[in-house]
Amino acid sequence: MEVRIEHLTKTFIGKKGVETTAVNDMNFVVPDGKLVGLLGPSGCGKSTTLYMIAGLHKPTEGKIWFGDEDVTNVPPENRGIGLVFQNYALYPHFSVRQNISFPLDNVRFPHPLHAFKTRIKEVEKDIKESSAELAALDRKIVKGEEKIAALTAKPDVDVEKQSEEMKLLDELKATHFEVEQRAIELQEELEKAHVALDRAIEALKAIKPTEEETAELARLKRVASAKDAPLEDKAAYSEAKKVFDEKNEKYRLTVRRTLSRADKDEIIHKTARLVDIEQYLDRKPKELSGGQQQRVAIARALAKSPRVLLLDEPLSNLDARLRLQTREEIRRIQKETGVTTIFVTHDQEEAMSISDIIVVMNYGVVNQIDAPQKVYDQPINLFVAKFLGSPAINIFDGEIRKGKLYVNKVLFDEDPIYKNEFHGFIERRREVVAGTNLTHDEYIEDLKKHPEKVEGLSMKKLEALRNPDIEKIVIKEEVRRTDRPVKIGIRPEAFKISPEGKIPVEIRFIEHIGRDISIIGNVAKQKESKLKIIVPSEHASGIVGKKVIACDPKWFFVFEESGERIK
Ligand SMILES: Nc1ncnc2c1ncn2[C@@H]1O[C@H](COP(=O)(O)OP(=O)(O)O)[C@@H](O)[C@H]1O
Ligand SMILES: [Mg+2]
Repeated sequence: MEVRIEHLTKTFIGKKGVETTAVNDMNFVVPDGKLVGLLGPSGCGKSTTLYMIAGLHKPTEGKIWFGDEDVTNVPPENRGIGLVFQNYALYPHFSVRQNISFPLDNVRFPHPLHAFKTRIKEVEKDIKESSAELAALDRKIVKGEEKIAALTAKPDVDVEKQSEEMKLLDELKATHFEVEQRAIELQEELEKAHVALDRAIEALKAIKPTEEETAELARLKRVASAKDAPLEDKAAYSEAKKVFDEKNEKYRLTVRRTLSRADKDEIIHKTARLVDIEQYLDRKPKELSGGQQQRVAIARALAKSPRVLLLDEPLSNLDARLRLQTREEIRRIQKETGVTTIFVTHDQEEAMSISDIIVVMNYGVVNQIDAPQKVYDQPINLFVAKFLGSPAINIFDGEIRKGKLYVNKVLFDEDPIYKNEFHGFIERRREVVAGTNLTHDEYIEDLKKHPEKVEGLSMKKLEALRNPDIEKIVIKEEVRRTDRPVKIGIRPEAFKISPEGKIPVEIRFIEHIGRDISIIGNVAKQKESKLKIIVPSEHASGIVGKKVIACDPKWFFVFEESGERIK
């Protein structure tokens, strides 16, 4: 089931009327059968997005599609979703079996005659309404005719008024005719609906074992269970019982209201086997490890064969080892079932390892949608570059001057791309006191400078000084320039150590981590420009024992001040 999100927006109105736009004009597609990782820092709107897809939050704007169906206003229970939360949310007093079967207990099948009966009721209601309408029209027509008669009887006939009334009467008669036609159609429809109901009743009767059949079976049973009953009689009974049971079962399945116990059992075992907890069905949740409990929660979400599986940070409560193992399990289960899945996480490594596609978001806005490796190798902006990768990317201040890239006034690169002028908007986010465009500090400063303003302040605002309502606002500045400051990003593994290297690095300490060594240091003579370099252990001899090494980047990214990537 493909999931499509269009212009999805959610604005929460807080207690004091402060608005938070948790999700802002999001667009993305989860292709059928794929696992999409929704990745971003805490508070960026991941859960809000997921809960809108689940139907637990109503979008402020935008649409959600499951395939061709617009589910934006469909209640959660009718969306066909399975939800898994960080804290498992299992019923502690229920066994694993009961936990999995719980959603199945609420599966309801409509009675086979239900649709026909509902249709008849609807049509009957329409007929009643149209006859009431006809009666009202009849009364109006009579009144209209009386009015015209009265007008005509007057000695000086008001011709204008008379023709006006006649026009009204004609309109009433035309409406009457239409309603009458519709009433006739409704009557025909009612008859058809009754015929359909009768047919359905007959069809149901045809598959229901008759009284005669039931009596005959009872008779055969009596004969067969008599003392010294011949073998043929026993065989005849068992044959008849088989036919009878089959018929009865077919009838029972047709008119059933809920899943049968056997059906439920089959589903419980199938899903428990899928998530590998079949042997724990009779345990209580607290008798299981966190990872096993989370697998039960996944089984419960899968039991109703959801069209879409939604997972909100499902691994966050697990310890490191279980997290890894459960992550692989989720991937396997997702592949095996082929269920379209949205996996929310703030952990970039988790998103990288589990997803077919990653949607990186920040402040409720989608930044990049790509395959995991592409997000890492081709980050669209500074935020994505910093958010992906562990250890994090090294960021240096650089400068473009006369079309060349410099770091510490040393020429770093001279790609012609730096000749392009930057023209655009730089967005800055400010946290301001609600209702002003001043930060809290600026607000206090402003009041100090203008003590007269304090006089006019309401109690509410005075209170706000101590405990301000903070609002996030975005300031956009239009800029156009050639020479400008930029940021340079170099991933820890993107350095090569060479005597001619342009970047001198003072080594603070070295960690040996298996295949790699990791150098923690700073750009020489700049304590604040910390950096981390990872190189294969085989280069250790050129590094260990040295105070300063020279490096060059094998590759790097350049970003505008606004965060947008240049190269
Ligand atoms: N029910 C709510 N009422 C008001 N604000 C909310 C509500 N739910 C979430 N928020 C706010 O919306 C933003 C996004 O929250 P959330 O979607 O939970 O982020 P995430 O799951 O990425 O950590 C946060 O600023 C949060 O405080
Ligand atoms: Mg969340």
